[in-house]
Amino acid sequence: MRVSADGTALPCLHGHGGKAACALAVCVAFLTFLVVALDPRTRASSWLLSSSPPAVFSPTLEKPSSRGSSNGGGPLLVTSSSGAAGKKKNSNGKEVLFRAFAVNATSWPGDVHGATPDYVSVAAPAPSPATQESGLGDAANSDGVIQVIPQIHRERDAKLHRLELGLAKARSTIMEASHNKDNRPPLTDKDYVPVGPVYRNANAFHRSYLEMEKLFKIYVYDEGEPPIYHDGPCHNIYSTEGRFIHAMEMENRMRTTDPGLAHVFFLPFSIAKMEKTIYVPGSHTMEPLRRTVFDYIDVLSTKHPYWNRSQGADHFMLSCHDWGPYVSSVDGNLFSNSIRVLCNANTSEGFIPSKDVSLPEINHLNDFKKDIGGPSASGRPILAFFAGGNHGPVRPLLLKHWKGKDPDVQVSEYLPAGVSYVETMRRSKFCLCPSGFEVASPRVAEAIYVECVPVVIADDYVLPFSDVLSWPAFSLRVAVRDIPDIKRILSAVSPRRYIRMQRRVRAVRRHFMLNGVPQRYDVFHMILHSIWLRRLNVRIHEDHVVGD
Ligand SMILES: *[C@@H]1O[C@H](CO)[C@@H](O)[C@H](O)[C@H]1NC(C)=O
Ligand SMILES: *[C@@H]1O[C@H](CO)[C@@H](O)[C@H](O)[C@H]1NC(C)=O
Ligand SMILES: *[C@@H]1O[C@H](CO)[C@@H](O)[C@H](O)[C@H]1NC(C)=O
Repeated sequence: MRVSADGTALPCLHGHGGKAACALAVCVAFLTFLVVALDPRTRASSWLLSSSPPAVFSPTLEKPSSRGSSNGGGPLLVTSSSGAAGKKKNSNGKEVLFRAFAVNATSWPGDVHGATPDYVSVAAPAPSPATQESGLGDAANSDGVIQVIPQIHRERDAKLHRLELGLAKARSTIMEASHNKDNRPPLTDKDYVPVGPVYRNANAFHRSYLEMEKLFKIYVYDEGEPPIYHDGPCHNIYSTEGRFIHAMEMENRMRTTDPGLAHVFFLPFSIAKMEKTIYVPGSHTMEPLRRTVFDYIDVLSTKHPYWNRSQGADHFMLSCHDWGPYVSSVDGNLFSNSIRVLCNANTSEGFIPSKDVSLPEINHLNDFKKDIGGPSASGRPILAFFAGGNHGPVRPLLLKHWKGKDPDVQVSEYLPAGVSYVETMRRSKFCLCPSGFEVASPRVAEAIYVECVPVVIADDYVLPFSDVLSWPAFSLRVAVRDIPDIKRILSAVSPRRYIRMQRRVRAVRRHFMLNGVPQRYDVFHMILHSIWLRRLNVRIHEDHVVGD
């Protein structure tokens, strides 16, 4: 049974989901929050581009000595590994080669650090190093953007060519907006105008968002049956996985049924559903899940030309399940080339911020939806609060240092009977969000819902939407080793700074709202926007014609 466009078979819209859809009217009522003047310091800390992925998993950047130029305009050679288990090469020892061209100005959203390539230009099939070299001549022009003229024009090439032209135009429009530095009056928008220091570059984000709405087309592969395809959980800790898959099934603006018009291709499997249906409890092996993903890609790449064309670089998968990173490592191209949208955005497990997308974890949505918001600082007598299970690598340290130690820092595994979790968050200035079994925590979004300033305690975690949001403007980050210092660190935040941060928490809330029917700028569209940005960083061309 496939879910249908009228929503009749969409579990996310029934039961709790139906209520959520009603509560959405409330969310729509939130209007523009104008936020205080730009704090230039927040600009400086850009987590996306400054966090360099760890060497063992990341593509290796090498400047070809013969033609490299260091001003950012020259081509870079990216050796992209088959990422399984962090190995540099796949079993044949064959490397997958890409061309990358650093065009620093185009990097989102304007500030660039080091060697992150801004475009990964993908040729299919993988050329040999010799072909690679000879292909470079026609590639780079003066502004560093490659222009590749297909040698043989065919219908498919022409479509791809048009798509890439559209993306190139969007890139330059966004680049221009990012250089505007907010001098020009903001763009108009009937729903919302992003503005203020919660954004790394509000103007560029807004322009990019509008370009996405105008242009972006996503194709969802039809293959596969529920429950593990075209379906996912809607009401548990992995609900962003199911909600996204269902929203994608219903999407009609950015979804296309013509793969020839698609900028990206969605692999609509749910690892959370696979855990429920094909994992053998107690077996301690994810092999059946890995096999399933492997076979799915095998089928798609045989039936359709698109996977081979880009080696997966214009394809995306999405998983909130902890096992997402490991299951995706079964296919080297999926792991190293595709856009992986993951809650488990752990840079130590191969998450690459410039290629992959950090997916927010959202749970207990309905507890929060019925009563969004919370008091100002004066109504929050508790300095810091955490209640939750003692598992994963971080929480034992937190509990060891703070459980039952200090009424200002209320840390415990369980709340006493009759004490409301949500109400305690509302009475707290800071909500501690330590990693659990994996890096992400649903507490980040929950804190944002109740206007409690989140304190992220998760080393190696790339926060959601850090491609556009300036997290330091509205949250704190405490390193795991600084857990003993939490009280000192939080007490050092001045009342004025706290008021500012709390106001900004309110301003970003719309981006974390999960609506029964997605609304502009909500979490569904922010995820799409993150995917859109990753796609903008890739240019796909065919300089070889394969097959028919
Ligand atoms: C690229 O970066 C270099 C140094 O980081 C800078 O001098 C140059 O102006 C940048 N190029 C463009 C086109 O912005
Ligand atoms: C894609 O590549 C695989 C492996 O090289 C091959 O088996 C498959 O037939 C190719 N798909 C198409 C549509 O050509
Ligand atoms: C992130 O990944 C590393 C490597 O697998 C692991 O040691 C670490 O515990 C992970 N972090 C969390 C919070 O799960």
